[in-house]
Amino acid sequence: MTDQTTLVLSADTAGLRNAAEILQRGGLVAFPTETVYGLGADARNDRAVAGIYAAKGRPSFNPLIVHVADLEAAQELVDFTPDALGLADAFWPGALTLVLPLKPGSGISQLVTAGLDTLAVRVPDHAVGQGLLHAFGGPVAAPSANPSGRISPTTAVHVLAGLSGRIDAVVDGGACGVGLESTIIGCAGEPALLRAGGIPTETIEACLGYPLAAAGVDITAPGQLASHYAPAGSVRMEATTANAGETLLGFGPIKGDLTLSATGDLTEAAAVLFDRLHQLDAMTATHIAVAPIPDHGLGRAINDRLRRAAAPR
Ligand code: TXA
Ligand code: MG
Repeated sequence: MTDQTTLVLSADTAGLRNAAEILQRGGLVAFPTETVYGLGADARNDRAVAGIYAAKGRPSFNPLIVHVADLEAAQELVDFTPDALGLADAFWPGALTLVLPLKPGSGISQLVTAGLDTLAVRVPDHAVGQGLLHAFGGPVAAPSANPSGRISPTTAVHVLAGLSGRIDAVVDGGACGVGLESTIIGCAGEPALLRAGGIPTETIEACLGYPLAAAGVDITAPGQLASHYAPAGSVRMEATTANAGETLLGFGPIKGDLTLSATGDLTEAAAVLFDRLHQLDAMTATHIAVAPIPDHGLGRAINDRLRRAAAPR
């Protein structure tokens, strides 16, 4: 998985057919979804899935999300509760991942679930991602296409910056619209929020008609390591001005050297968050200060990512 040439494929029929063939051969293909770029492999092929962990340098206890084209394909892999069906109806295709009991005989590699008896599944809402799933015709395991612990990619250029030479190909489908990973809801028991993400928690609770349980010690997303999404420089949150030597990432009235959204729009801030962190890396910013972000709607997921970026490493 090292020192190979990473192909950049166009997001047309020929590019998608090529990408699907690479997946069929057990290779690794990064592809766009509406949230972030995923690093895809055939979820039924142990060797291919092992390649994901190797390319990302990811701890092997961390399970992966499986991407499928539609609800019917998801129902072949996991058992849906009535609540989970309601959420899938409301939000798929879209930035929602459901963790559900794995069906016996699903054929999913044990490396995908890291030995758990549940599986995280998602139907992405992106023409190119959907095109690849249809061309491939099977379940695609895909974590975000970045080296473990680093910033998630929202463009093909970000993918290449982190993984060029370590993966077979990237399908270039432009910038991701949402810009934050999917919201993960544990639905094997009482519905619980495992990761804030592209669909606001409030929106999901409005659909369920009751509040989500908080992830506890026994209900958790194992990938939620404290330090994650980290740019090279240190990160300080809730900054209203920059201290000496700091580069300020602004929001709304706090202008900054760069801004997440000059108008204070949380949707825009989510869409550009990872790109701004990549830009700060490119500027070799060593001390990054970030303006306060309101902690509601998509702001909760943005603050979650920023807290992880600011965590001690
Ligand atoms: O938007 C997204 O979700 C992107 C795109 C590519 O779809 N994918 C993504 O995957 O963010 P990844 O692998 O970076 O994050 C997967 C998260 C991890 O925190 C992992 O621990 C959790 O999902 N997860 C996966 N399977 C799980 C399971 N069976 N139970 C609990 N958490 C699980
Ligand atoms: Mg990730």
